[in-house]
Amino acid sequence: MVKMELNKIYNMDCIEGMKELPDESMDIVITSPPYEDISGAGYSAVNKDILFFKLYSEFMDKMFIELYRILKKDGQIFFNIKSKTHNSELRTPHWIEFVAAFKQFKLKSYIIWKYAGSFDSSKKRFHLDYEIIYHLSKSDDIYLNEGCGIKDPLSSVWYVPHNIQDRLHPTQMPEGVVERILTVCGQPNITVLDIFAGSGTTCAVAKKFNYNYIGFEINPEYCKIAENRIGRML
Ligand SMILES: C[S@@+](CC[C@H](N)C(=O)[O-])C[C@H]1O[C@@H](n2cnc3c(N)ncnc32)[C@H](O)[C@@H]1O
Repeated sequence: MVKMELNKIYNMDCIEGMKELPDESMDIVITSPPYEDISGAGYSAVNKDILFFKLYSEFMDKMFIELYRILKKDGQIFFNIKSKTHNSELRTPHWIEFVAAFKQFKLKSYIIWKYAGSFDSSKKRFHLDYEIIYHLSKSDDIYLNEGCGIKDPLSSVWYVPHNIQDRLHPTQMPEGVVERILTVCGQPNITVLDIFAGSGTTCAVAKKFNYNYIGFEINPEYCKIAENRIGRML
């Protein structure tokens, strides 16, 4: 049993970590799962085959059960995932919408995070230059500040380039994505959770905004990197 303190990143599996959090205790969750990264997540399948898919979707189901339990009634989740290519074909993540525990949530918005550039030299498809952010809640009672001062605050298409210097993680999220969410949805005294903290982007930006945060990260190296990153902000 771990006594959870605010403003820490815990080196542990997120499902085990969330079990230690009280019901309806989190205001905003901003997170990106390991994109089918078996090694990072510690699943037992070895191939990206049907068994892997079964394990991955079962993991997602358990994760959404806990997320639903710990989210406040007026809380919001921003769940970032992207399409992949496999054998030169596109594999979208829309299957996640059919995971049983995902369906408990209200799907409020389907956000396209557009970035610059092409990551595909084949020239045999349109560029995969975007990611998806599922915006989920438990109720319609959510805070979205239209007067927060940014252009088009309620647009579902966000342009945020990957202008990250000194990259700390292979799938590091630009701080601009988290800043946009917290600018529109943040209120005093909230707690922001990232269950796949990686290099600590969500937690670092939450700290910058003076909000409480909690992170879970299974890889001890990334956990240390994230803690150092946040420590340097003191
Ligand atoms: C897509 S990355 C997150 C990157 C992060 N948003 C950032 O800006 O650095 C996913 C992270 O989840 C971690 N992870 C994988 N399985 C996990 C689990 N079961 N519990 C907690 N963390 C996990 C991986 O080690 C990886 O660092």
